[in-house]
Amino acid sequence: MRDIGIFDGAGEILALDGISAGYRRRPVVHDVRLGPLPPASITALVGPNGAGKSTLLKGLAGAMPVRGRAMLGSRDLIAMTPRDRARLVAHMPQALPDRVALTVLDAVIGALRAGPAGDPPPGTPKGDAERAVAVLDRLGITALALQPLDTLSGGQRQMAALAQALVRDPRVLLLDEPTSALDLRHQYRVMATVRDLARERALQVIVVLHDLDLACRWAHRIAVLGQGRLHAFGTPAEAVTPRILHDVWGVAARVDARDDGRVRVEVEGLA
Ligand SMILES: Nc1ncnc2c1ncn2[C@@H]1O[C@H](COP(=O)(O)OP(=O)(O)O)[C@@H](O)[C@H]1O
Ligand SMILES: [Mg+2]
Repeated sequence: MRDIGIFDGAGEILALDGISAGYRRRPVVHDVRLGPLPPASITALVGPNGAGKSTLLKGLAGAMPVRGRAMLGSRDLIAMTPRDRARLVAHMPQALPDRVALTVLDAVIGALRAGPAGDPPPGTPKGDAERAVAVLDRLGITALALQPLDTLSGGQRQMAALAQALVRDPRVLLLDEPTSALDLRHQYRVMATVRDLARERALQVIVVLHDLDLACRWAHRIAVLGQGRLHAFGTPAEAVTPRILHDVWGVAARVDARDDGRVRVEVEGLA
C-alpha cells in the first residue's frame, strides 16, 4: 500500500504497548498496542462514541493514570516525570476549557507558561508573546488575538485551543476532535497546518476524528478503537474496510479504494 507523503527525515517512532486506562472501577481502554507510528506522520484515531478515544489520549497526555508503555524512540512517555512528558507531549482536549474572559493571546501565552514546553524550531521569535503571535498567524487567527475567549464561537474557540497546544512545540501532538465545530475552510486549514507542522518538525500527531473521509484524506495511518480495544491499524485502505465498519460501527458500508491510495466510505444502512 502506498503511503501518502510520509516524510522520511528526522524524528522518532512512537509505539504504544499494553496501554490500559479507565476511571474508578471502570476500565475503559484495554491493552492497546499501536504502532510503530512513523516519524512525522498523522495517525487518525477513529471509533464509535464511547470507544475510549478521549480516555486513551488523556492517558498519553498525563491527564489521567495509565498503564503500559508509550515509547518515543527509546524513551517511555509513561515512565517519565510529568515535567519531562510536558516538554514532549501537547494535548488539545475534546472538552474545551470553561468560558473565561481571557483574550486568545493571553490564553495562548498562558498555555506556553503552564509548564516546561518543547524547544521552538530555529528562527522562532524568543519572547513568549512573540511565540504566541507566530502560532496565531500560522493558524490564520491573528484577528482573534485580542478577543476574549468567552466571546468566541465554538469553532473559534477550537482554533484557540489548537493554538494553545501548538505553541508548546511538542514532539507528540494529541488532538481530540479538533475539527468538530469547524466550517469546511477551517477544517482544511487545520488539517493542512497540522500536516505541514508534522513534516517540518518531525512531529507525531494522533488525532481523533469522527469523519472517516476526513481521516482517510489526511492521515497516514488509521487506528480503529472499539470498546476500548484496537480493532485495526494500518493505512486507510488497510484499516477502513466493510468488515471493520460492520464489526465496530455496526453499519453496512461500501468502501472505495482509489488509485491514489485514498479511501471513500459510503454508509448504506445499519448492519
Ligand atoms: N470522567 C469519567 N468518569 C467515568 N467514566 C468516564 C469518564 N469519561 C468517560 N467515561 C466513560 O469512558 C468511556 C469512554 O469514553 P471516552 O474515552 O470519552 O470515549 P470516546 O472519546 O471514544 O467517545 C465511556 O463509556 C464514558 O462514559
Ligand atoms: Mg471523545
